[in-house]
Amino acid sequence: MIDLGLNILLGSGVNDKNACQWRSSGDTLRTRMVDKVIIKEVAARDGLQAQSVEITLDQRRELIEALARSNVPELEIGSFVSPKAVPQMAGTDELARDLPKGNAKFSALVPNMKGYELARREGIDQIAIVLSATEQMNQNNIRKSLDDTFAMAGDILARARDEGVDIHAYLAVAFECPYEGKVSPQVVLEQAGELMRNNPARLVIADTIGAANPRDVNAMMTELVTQFGADRLGCHFHDTRAMGLANVFAALEAGVRQFDSSAGGLGGCPFAPGAKGNVATEDVVMMCESSGFSTGIDMEALLESVACLTRMMGSQQGGRAHYWLTNNWHKFAN
Ligand code: COA
Ligand code: ZN
Repeated sequence: MIDLGLNILLGSGVNDKNACQWRSSGDTLRTRMVDKVIIKEVAARDGLQAQSVEITLDQRRELIEALARSNVPELEIGSFVSPKAVPQMAGTDELARDLPKGNAKFSALVPNMKGYELARREGIDQIAIVLSATEQMNQNNIRKSLDDTFAMAGDILARARDEGVDIHAYLAVAFECPYEGKVSPQVVLEQAGELMRNNPARLVIADTIGAANPRDVNAMMTELVTQFGADRLGCHFHDTRAMGLANVFAALEAGVRQFDSSAGGLGGCPFAPGAKGNVATEDVVMMCESSGFSTGIDMEALLESVACLTRMMGSQQGGRAHYWLTNNWHKFAN
């Protein structure tokens, strides 16, 4: 078990502003947990990139519109990658030209400088780049050595700084790799340090194959929050082993307030065998809101996005609490 709130009370080095306020207050854990959680909705990218069902651009657009109506603060619309490598993401440029109105910050994932330029051409100014913690995963994913990828990330981050673009740098397979097995936390901490020297807007620790456990997540994120502050950190969990939500909570306990999740729990990586769906946005919203955090997401509209995914996929989609939420969404009305 992780120590629920104990590290906060003892002053674990969590150094975001809100956490310091909690430490100084003598309130209960529940009343101390009143701050915001920012969710980046990734169903339109991570959710769709590995699906074998054929999905049209109109369907992808319909999904993005439905997700935008749910008031997600950040919405990843797709990726600018080689259509030969990931045909499911072809046409993201067209989607980017026709985005719905609303409050969402739209973002896209890119594997290289070419992708960065393609995304920029369409006016995207929040861009995810992916480095893997292991050589083999990195090679399989983007066909580059890790050394070359870190150099490329440095170039993209330098350019983004000049152009006022926010880069979210992802460290994929940060706990376990489908090719190389367990990943040493020391390796991840060193890689995180190297990336942070180039000042990404956010460093996202990604459990690409859903192999992390809450204790390891809490230890890793507590250390990173201590070193870099919670504002610049995020987490991305898959739910392969049913520990996705527990891992989100373990990271929350470490002070992290930015999470990726996917409506309906859809997700997977074409280059990481065994990667099942992401932790479901509706489950994360439910857990956060019922634990006293605010997400600003409209649960009813979010469930309509899940229904949209169900139609697209031709099979029922939904996170673990989907059935209960369909009758109780009003308890999470924002
Ligand atoms: N977007 C679109 N096309 C791209 C591209 C990009 N970001 N980067 C390269 N290409 C094109 C090149 O123009 C070239 O096209 P051509 O064959 O018509 O001349 C072709 O892809 C090969 O280019 P090359 O630089 O040799 O790439 P590669 O074959 O070594 O593949 C990647 C490298 C990174 C482009 C490819 O592996 C990829 O897109 N991976 C995506 C991984 C992913 O999305 N993973 C899941 C999310 S983490
Ligand atoms: Zn993922």
